[in-house]
Amino acid sequence: MGKLVSDTMKQNLALVAFLKQHDIYTYFLPVSSACENRIVVKGTERINFISNNYLGFSTHPKVKEAVEAALRKYGLGIGGSPIACGSTDLHYALNERIARVYGQEDCVLYASGYQALLGGIQATVRRGDVVLLDSLVHRSIVDGVTLSEADKRMWLHNDMEDLEQLLERVKNKYERMLIVVDSVYSMDGDIAPLPEIRRLAGEHGALVLVDEAHSLGVIGKRGYGILDHFDLPGGADVIAGTFSKFAGAVGGFVTASREYITFLRHNCSPFIFSASLSPLIVAGVLQSFDLLDEEPQWRERLLANSRSFIDGLKSLGFDTGTSVTACVPIIIRDTQKTMAFNKIILEHGVFASPVVHPAVPHTESRIRLGVMATHTAEDIERSMEIFKKAGKELGII
Ligand SMILES: Cc1ncc(COP(=O)(O)O)c(C=O)c1O
Repeated sequence: MGKLVSDTMKQNLALVAFLKQHDIYTYFLPVSSACENRIVVKGTERINFISNNYLGFSTHPKVKEAVEAALRKYGLGIGGSPIACGSTDLHYALNERIARVYGQEDCVLYASGYQALLGGIQATVRRGDVVLLDSLVHRSIVDGVTLSEADKRMWLHNDMEDLEQLLERVKNKYERMLIVVDSVYSMDGDIAPLPEIRRLAGEHGALVLVDEAHSLGVIGKRGYGILDHFDLPGGADVIAGTFSKFAGAVGGFVTASREYITFLRHNCSPFIFSASLSPLIVAGVLQSFDLLDEEPQWRERLLANSRSFIDGLKSLGFDTGTSVTACVPIIIRDTQKTMAFNKIILEHGVFASPVVHPAVPHTESRIRLGVMATHTAEDIERSMEIFKKAGKELGII
């Protein structure tokens, strides 16, 4: 009889067993409060640096009001795929809102950002096409290309010379070329050089898809992400994103031309064969878009907090890599030390996320921190003291 847990799977579990044995395993901890600047983990309040709820909108009073109103009207969910009963007036309003934000013609919503990227890419390319990926794009993108059966080529992270050489190499060998980038990289917090990418794509006849997961609500004069940041209205052919970061909720989207979105609506499996987002989420996300326009102070505070956080870490001697946004790594380059660091900061009151192999190579092990607009000066000061203590104890600084 076949083994349910194969030897390869067992090897994979060895790291988990090792971390548990050394009491430095800090994943899947039980949370028993809302996701605010302080969060209750294992029954104790800690400073929250683990979330992507950058603007703190998930608990904003206006968002709660909008969700309560939707709850009274629609109940918990809509009970079907968008192609059946899952396209409410709220879903249409959000489609229209996102298309307007990005200067596009139409939009489709997905149950998660992962599904939006996976489905959008899988439906767009096929065998005979090639997808050119920055080496640090999110897993949902890599999985989407694998499902599509298009060829996959990677270029060195944010390296435009490498992208140009790759474009030269693959040119004329494929029916279509699609370049995919994260606007802001989730583990490094740096920004894709979109003007150069767009120029190279234009010169070589390639299409461009951007993943706005960590940029919507964070960069750009109006917080509208990378096109707004570079003032490049036609900077991408397809824009995908998620509501789990800027709205602290769940769900994703793809926005582009009417013809392309009509194609996705009728041909994209993760869109058609999955229940529609709950109207409660859609109402909350619509309100979050209103907040982006009406309460710019949250974005301003996020920017100021991110700057002081990065400066603080650097002045303590930590390596924060190339981050210029609200995703900030403390790069430790050693899996065991990274897990130990996380355990120490958790015990002293900071909740953060260790990122180790296989998510990144061993030499890139890090703590990944998400700054929030709602962090107070005291939150930042106190967390610096805790990072300093852990850094000294482990000989990292
Ligand atoms: C860059 C990037 N793209 C896509 C996703 C998937 O989004 P979601 O978690 O909303 O499914 C994530 C989530 O971590 C991400 O970091």
